[in-house]
Amino acid sequence: MTDKIRWGILGPGNIAHKFAKGLAVISDAELVAVGSRSLERANSFADAYSVDARYGSYEELANDRSVDVIYVATPHPFHREHTLLCLEAGKAVLCEKPISINAQTTKDMVNTAREKRIFLMEAMWTRFLPTIVKAREWIADGRIGDVRLVKADFGFRVGWNPASRLLDPNLGGGSLLDVGVYTISLAHLIFGSAPSQVAGLAHLGETGVDEQAGMVLGFQNGGLAVLCSAVRANTPQEARIIGTDGSIHIPDFWHSTTATLSVANEVVDQIDKPFQGSGYEYEAMEVNRCLRAGELESPIMPLQESIEVMETADELRGQWGFELPMERMDT
Ligand SMILES: NC(=O)c1ccc[n+]([C@@H]2O[C@H](COP(=O)([O-])OP(=O)(O)OC[C@H]3O[C@@H](n4cnc5c(N)ncnc54)[C@H](OP(=O)(O)O)[C@@H]3O)[C@@H](O)[C@H]2O)c1
Repeated sequence: MTDKIRWGILGPGNIAHKFAKGLAVISDAELVAVGSRSLERANSFADAYSVDARYGSYEELANDRSVDVIYVATPHPFHREHTLLCLEAGKAVLCEKPISINAQTTKDMVNTAREKRIFLMEAMWTRFLPTIVKAREWIADGRIGDVRLVKADFGFRVGWNPASRLLDPNLGGGSLLDVGVYTISLAHLIFGSAPSQVAGLAHLGETGVDEQAGMVLGFQNGGLAVLCSAVRANTPQEARIIGTDGSIHIPDFWHSTTATLSVANEVVDQIDKPFQGSGYEYEAMEVNRCLRAGELESPIMPLQESIEVMETADELRGQWGFELPMERMDT
């Protein structure tokens, strides 16, 4: 491995731009290659970030020997195929959230990474933000006592376009897989386990995807997570972690720069930490750390936990009778 970890980006769309801006502030990382289905799009992205190697196919990117790790940034129904392509070519992978569309496809990815002994991580970037790191420290230090409740929501109103990624079932549309997973992943993280009970209601809209959902997860110790997600309604997008002795409030939790710790309704501690870049640098720093340490997965976003989050999502979609078209094709 050279001085800098050499990154490639697969699928230069909306989120890839934000990720590239985060990568740019990390001193030991370099974006060296980009792969698109179209050379024109690869060129335009590569020009914007001064990237030398640009490819009009994902295969060429995966086989570029100068790349150490590939960030898979395509819509989630394609995460399995594109991650497997990179793993088969011997490349470490950071795969956008949700890691895949369901637990079975996630297991395919995890099994391949483990068999080949190659690094794989879900890009659940929220977990690596300084605010969430600090909130976990407050909890570990007993500052809020035993955690009893996690309340989190992530909803926004997207314009009506049935062909968009958020509304088209062929692109894995729906609030649960796009933003609900942030709330579920947070609950799994804070309670430190998968839930023993899962219940939810969703409104499936005109295109058949869940436009909004309410979810309750029950954990072994009696802890509860009360969550909601939406793609056709704006919600506060905040998280509250409520313990026996205090609580933590994280505004805009999924891209938070502040959090407060309260005891007896008085704020007693806080963190206020603007991002160095776009915020996506923190997950990339963890990937760099793991690669340098020879770790095959991150202890902050373990692969088993990515599988368990998808199992929770599967259970919810099962209750709602919401199957994606490509899942019907798989059976
Ligand atoms: N971490 C976050 O904050 C965050 C935010 C938004 C989205 N995401 C996740 O990132 C992933 C991508 O989301 P996005 O909003 O960036 O999506 P997007 O812009 O719609 O698509 C990303 C790229 O995927 C490629 N692609 C490959 N096959 C495709 C197909 N059949 N249809 C459409 N595009 C295809 C396209 O690039 P080429 O054709 O040029 O190869 C496209 O530009 C999703 O899984 C989403 O959940 C994460």
